[in-house]
Amino acid sequence: MAIEPINMNEFQELAKQALPKMYYDYHTGGAEDQYTLKENVEAFSRILFQPRILLDVSRINLSTTVLGYNLSSPIMLAPTGCHKLAHPEGEIATARAAAACKTIMVLSCMSTCTVEEVASSCDAIRFFQLYVYRRRDVSAQLVQRAERCGYKAIVLTADTPRLGRREADIKNKMITPELKNFEGLMSTEVDSEKGSQLEAFASEILDPSLSWKDIGWLKSITNLPILIKGVLTAEDAVKAVDVGVAGIIVSNHGARQLDYAPPTISVLEEVVQAVGGKIPVLLDGGIRRGTDVFKALALGAQAVLIGRPVLYGLAAMGENGVRRVIEMLRDELELTMTLCGCCSLKDIARSHVQTPRDRL
Ligand code: FNR
Repeated sequence: MAIEPINMNEFQELAKQALPKMYYDYHTGGAEDQYTLKENVEAFSRILFQPRILLDVSRINLSTTVLGYNLSSPIMLAPTGCHKLAHPEGEIATARAAAACKTIMVLSCMSTCTVEEVASSCDAIRFFQLYVYRRRDVSAQLVQRAERCGYKAIVLTADTPRLGRREADIKNKMITPELKNFEGLMSTEVDSEKGSQLEAFASEILDPSLSWKDIGWLKSITNLPILIKGVLTAEDAVKAVDVGVAGIIVSNHGARQLDYAPPTISVLEEVVQAVGGKIPVLLDGGIRRGTDVFKALALGAQAVLIGRPVLYGLAAMGENGVRRVIEMLRDELELTMTLCGCCSLKDIARSHVQTPRDRL
């Protein structure tokens, strides 16, 4: 009988057993020295709780809303590419798990199922993540296809003018899988004998000239709300508010882009303060426990997104695995809230946590 994973590390272990090394390395790896990769997780462990006692915690409510959509918990699915590398059902299995758990899935534009296939597979609330390509017409077509088949928001990933240097992928000569959304729009064939094909492909297609003024262009081609993913400073948070986006995702791309970028949880509070409640702030990077979700909420995030944990669940057990990953984090969050004396998410306050800065 398969072992029942008791925490996210055990899910990761199952994924490792299930996958060829090239794919496992692609899912888990970070950029260069992987300093940020380690810190994304470890920075959470330096935040401690200040729990309250003797409050009636017999009923705990984890529900919330993001951009007006009701979610059963503040745990959303981050966009990650190429789900068929983890499981043959790919993004469709992930979307079904999101629907079952009543949460939002952000579909990567680098998906192995098309935006339409994912849309027609279930009634999950879906956002669409976009990279802007040199071929603006291709980006525009993808956005319009997503809008037509019911995606509710565009998540513009802004931290990837080029792909970060992921050394495991270079060594493994990581292949480019079939990226279904591009069929008939542009070729995904690249000629790279030396290193990661995926990196070569990305460098060829990504538009490094993308800038703040292009938010106007994006708004001109869609009526959907736009979120910017990849904000790490107060300065950029203010710019994002000024250009009129609907939300911010504090993210360092799961430490796959700029190594030595700060762990996301360490910059969340300054971003939240700069935004001043004008738009929702979400966070991803290093969430592996319900306690991590609680800490992010205490420091001002409206919700969090999980990247690798979804891929671990998917690789280990397909749709059911993704569901169990979400449920595991949700159950852990519920326990953390109970033990901290919080009956609902709005009870989670800054005073429930102590950060390294508080201890200075
Ligand atoms: C990603 N991420 C990502 N982000 C994005 O905007 N578009 C994408 O296509 C991808 N692809 C991708 C693939 C893989 C294998 C990983 C691990 C990550 C980044 C992702 O959205 C998110 O920011 C991080 O994964 C969050 O960190 P954790 O939860 O993985 O620690």
